Amino acid sequence: MPDQAPNNGFVDEDDMHWMKVIMCGVLITGMFRRIVSLSIDQGRVQTHQEPNLIPPSARNIPFEVIYSSIEPPFSSSRSNDSASWFLTKHLPVMTSPDFLADGEWIGYYCHVRVGRQPTWDPMMHGINFEITADYADHCAVRSRGDDAYGPSSLFGTVHKQNGSLQITKQYENGTTWQWSAVMTPFGIVGSWGSSIWGGWFWLWKRSWSPA
Ligand SMILES: *[C@@H]1O[C@H](CO)[C@@H](O)[C@H](O)[C@H]1NC(C)=O
Ligand SMILES: *[C@@H]1O[C@H](CO)[C@@H](O)[C@H](O)[C@H]1NC(C)=O
Ligand SMILES: *[C@@H]1O[C@H](CO)[C@@H](O)[C@H](O)[C@H]1NC(C)=O
Repeated sequence: MPDQAPNNGFVDEDDMHWMKVIMCGVLITGMFRRIVSLSIDQGRVQTHQEPNLIPPSARNIPFEVIYSSIEPPFSSSRSNDSASWFLTKHLPVMTSPDFLADGEWIGYYCHVRVGRQPTWDPMMHGINFEITADYADHCAVRSRGDDAYGPSSLFGTVHKQNGSLQITKQYENGTTWQWSAVMTPFGIVGSWGSSIWGGWFWLWKRSWSPA
């Protein structure tokens, strides 16, 4: 009798968890793109300092860079982890210091209130991550950022194995918000604040926004 269940090629619980996280990210970015693009078109997102850019679509994201280590389908080395295989293949590139620090990240966040339509603030911009420490399993990042409320500092951790990001955003007056996010193939997607006061956000590279 084998003391371990044979790997039947289906996903285990950990993978399942990550599949849900990434699928949520994918759904949220899809939804975000639609809502933000519509709201910008209809002039419902106010402009502040920077013009509001439209989020990228799959056509604008450089997947050939993100999936640099991609293997042909059905090749032997990937046959054991079929469904889970795609979930983490973007992480070696997208959680690397070079990728994180390369270029400006921009994005949007919304405020969600129970029983009300989410409201959108002007574009966040000026996020240029600096890597303050780089370990095998995580790196520490820091940046300035700008939004409708003014400048803030961002600092936190990017986990390389699972793409999870924990970032603190601190305004100049000391007010802080926690970001809890995951690196998806479409950028950084997550939530900010608490269940009482907060919302969703999505950050991508400025160079991905359609010109
Ligand atoms: C796939 O699984 C088989 C059986 O468990 C194992 O012998 C083989 O080394 C695995 N291949 C890879 C690439 O992990
Ligand atoms: C600090 O600044 C932020 C952003 O402008 C604002 O939302 C918050 O209410 C301020 N906090 C205090 C205590 O003034
Ligand atoms: C990702 O991995 C880190 C380090 O192992 C862990 O602390 C964190 O809780 C994980 N995140 C999630 C969402 O599982």
